[in-house]
Amino acid sequence: MTKERLECVDAGSEYCPCYLAETNNCITCSHLQGKDFCDCNWRGVCIYQEYAWNGYKSKFNRTTTKAAIVKRINVTDNCTVLELKVTKTLARQLSEAGSYVFLRDINLPSYFDVPMSIMDTDVTNGCVYIAYQKLGSKTKKLDDTKDKLFLRGPYWNGVFGLRNLKKVKNSKCLIVARGIAQAPSVLVAKKLIRNNNEIVMIIDKGKVGKNFIDEYLEGLNLNIVEENVMQEKGILLIKNILKNENISLIYSGGSDVLHSKLINMIDDLSIEPYIVATNNGEICCGEGICGSCSTRLKDGTIVKTCKTQVDARKIIERRVCID
Ligand code: FES
Repeated sequence: MTKERLECVDAGSEYCPCYLAETNNCITCSHLQGKDFCDCNWRGVCIYQEYAWNGYKSKFNRTTTKAAIVKRINVTDNCTVLELKVTKTLARQLSEAGSYVFLRDINLPSYFDVPMSIMDTDVTNGCVYIAYQKLGSKTKKLDDTKDKLFLRGPYWNGVFGLRNLKKVKNSKCLIVARGIAQAPSVLVAKKLIRNNNEIVMIIDKGKVGKNFIDEYLEGLNLNIVEENVMQEKGILLIKNILKNENISLIYSGGSDVLHSKLINMIDDLSIEPYIVATNNGEICCGEGICGSCSTRLKDGTIVKTCKTQVDARKIIERRVCID
């Protein structure tokens, strides 16, 4: 079985090459994995050449900056939306689907860094919008933060299937967004709209108990339906759309269980829309260093999901049983 050629989301960006190149652990470049042959997924940039031109060392590291909390909206008991002031450059860098940052209270140590998807951005005013659900120690502590946060970014691998998302044009797409994963769905919807796609969006309040993205979708030409997609009626609705609407791309914003449910439906109907799905990996450093996000694919390849773009199906089949 041939091993996967892996695609790093940072390849070709100003953050490539990174520390992984210095330690011969580059995700994409075979030379920077210690091999003596060239075998990368060519994406218009030679990572090895960039590394050599940069004096055989990594480029810029992401910095941690202070971001002021402009507004805090308590959506429900367990869900909060933050509007944060950042530079216009950072707001622009975070405007693509799959963008995320690390946040923490300025009085807490670095291991409180918590990855948060970007829900929306305002590039003109230099603001980003983030929604979080209070679950563990990190998010509960985030809730205690007064007026400023530490913010580290930009990061981009919050969604698998970015290549598919970028290439679908003038087609019909289905977005399923559940619970707190409604948040990353906003930038996905905006991307698909920019590419002139027709979108049916099913919003499931999930455990946060509310549709909190409506106002960020205002003015977009979307067909929005609210439904519990884990129950019979919602499942039937999705099946009907998939069967009758010639869907070219399906986006699953939710848990791995939701991802696998949708993949099973697609397989049962023998259709092949592109799949885009939220990255639900345990992200800790975001730099491919700590290994907390590592997932072993069927062929034995270990993938660091904080930086690697992988076919959503391949990741999900390792985490949840797809029958
Ligand atoms: S989060 Fe640390 S390696 Fe991916």
